[in-house]
Amino acid sequence: MKFVNSYKEKMKKYNEEHKLKYYIDTMGCQMNENDSLKYAGIFESMGFEKGEEDNSNVYLFNTCCVRENAENTLFGRLGMLKNRKLNNEEVYIAIVGCMTQQEHILEKIKKSYRFVDVVLGTSCMSIFPEKLYYAIVDNKKKIEYIDVSNALEEEVPIAYNDKYKASVSIIYGCNNFCSYCIVPYVRGRERSRKPEDIIADVKKLADEGYKEIMLLGQNVNSYGNDFKEKYTFPMLLEELEKIDGIEIIRFMSPHPKDFKDDLIEVIKKSKKIARQIHLPLQSGNTEILKKMNRKYTKEQFIELALKLKEIPDVSLSTDIIVGFPNETEEQFLDTLDVVRKVEFDQIYMFIYSKRTGTVAAKLDDEITYEEKVDRLERLKKLYEETLPKLNEKMVGKVYKVLVEGKSKTNNDLYTGRSSQNKVVIFEADESFVGKVVNVKIDSQHLWYLKGTIIK
Ligand code: 5AD
Ligand code: SF4
Repeated sequence: MKFVNSYKEKMKKYNEEHKLKYYIDTMGCQMNENDSLKYAGIFESMGFEKGEEDNSNVYLFNTCCVRENAENTLFGRLGMLKNRKLNNEEVYIAIVGCMTQQEHILEKIKKSYRFVDVVLGTSCMSIFPEKLYYAIVDNKKKIEYIDVSNALEEEVPIAYNDKYKASVSIIYGCNNFCSYCIVPYVRGRERSRKPEDIIADVKKLADEGYKEIMLLGQNVNSYGNDFKEKYTFPMLLEELEKIDGIEIIRFMSPHPKDFKDDLIEVIKKSKKIARQIHLPLQSGNTEILKKMNRKYTKEQFIELALKLKEIPDVSLSTDIIVGFPNETEEQFLDTLDVVRKVEFDQIYMFIYSKRTGTVAAKLDDEITYEEKVDRLERLKKLYEETLPKLNEKMVGKVYKVLVEGKSKTNNDLYTGRSSQNKVVIFEADESFVGKVVNVKIDSQHLWYLKGTIIK
């Protein structure tokens, strides 16, 4: 479905006089960040200016419900804006994204946050301009609308905030129903974008000077499963590889159960696919993995991870949840065991968060919160002990780095990320920004590497 903004001109006219500013508050994952860039594009096409947190008129909260803490953050921030509304300032509030697809959140907004102007679910960008226009110009208060339609919205204007790196969604939704996860309930079933639409987007980005793309999806290697004719994620990668100008291709997240040899072969052959693969483990214990509905065992995960690590210079990152309902100490030790055997370069660690509506939410859980925090700390400690060893292996070698600009912490130096997604700092000048250079690593400093550009 092509995105049409029939309110663009009307809203622009209004903004000529009122000059309204927008501010987007994004919670959650990279998919949400990508959606927020589209919302920014929509705002800008309607003549809004980008404002700051304290001086804007339209506040858009793009919400997440994967873990509990985001809810508290949202309601705290709404409370703060309420005062500005009460003072009759021209302030409008829109809430979009995953959280609004949950019944109890909607009820709470309706009951206690009646000053909110627009509430929309996921996949609702095409109706956003209209609802916003009504709220601002027609002042039809309290529009509450939920769309669970799984429409694929194409050609939404997108306001990237980086000149060299861009994210591109390739598949929306998820069919996996991992027992702890709310995503399949709020983002709907898998819908793959047509390859020609993705390729056109990436070609356009290359023409605009972008060097690196990140392909996004809840499960990128399900890409194409919903097409009638066979078209797979590895086939898409091969097509994108041919696009001149794009030098680094990343993707996240693949599901270990769907990581097949054809994908590994494409990665091995590719000169552009980053030498970094995100492979979410979640738990290292086979019984817990079964309860999580992950469809792989501890041994299968280790085998896959070690196979991927045979690709020269590959780094692995992962997601791990500690404290799944009634996870025993022994089961947790299996997670540590996998971490020890695989040696991840990056671990996103989470304490299990009960999500109403999921299968796991019905399970008994006797483990105390303190125990869960303790497990998280032990996982963190193991990771931080392993990391210097992995970094050390990179010292003396040369890696491709996209130069992003001046380092924020060390202003004399420039910074970028290697193909392995490691932060690297080095001497350079402005002429290097936006270029992919070869950097020889001189030393490792846990969270970053120091190096020298090789001419
Ligand atoms: N509790 C904790 N972490 C979760 N994740 C998803 N659902 C939950 C939950 N209920 C984590 C998973 C996933 C990442 C995006 O968020 O590790 O890979
Ligand atoms: Fe959630 Fe599992 Fe789908 Fe990832 S694959 S979004 S963890 S249900």
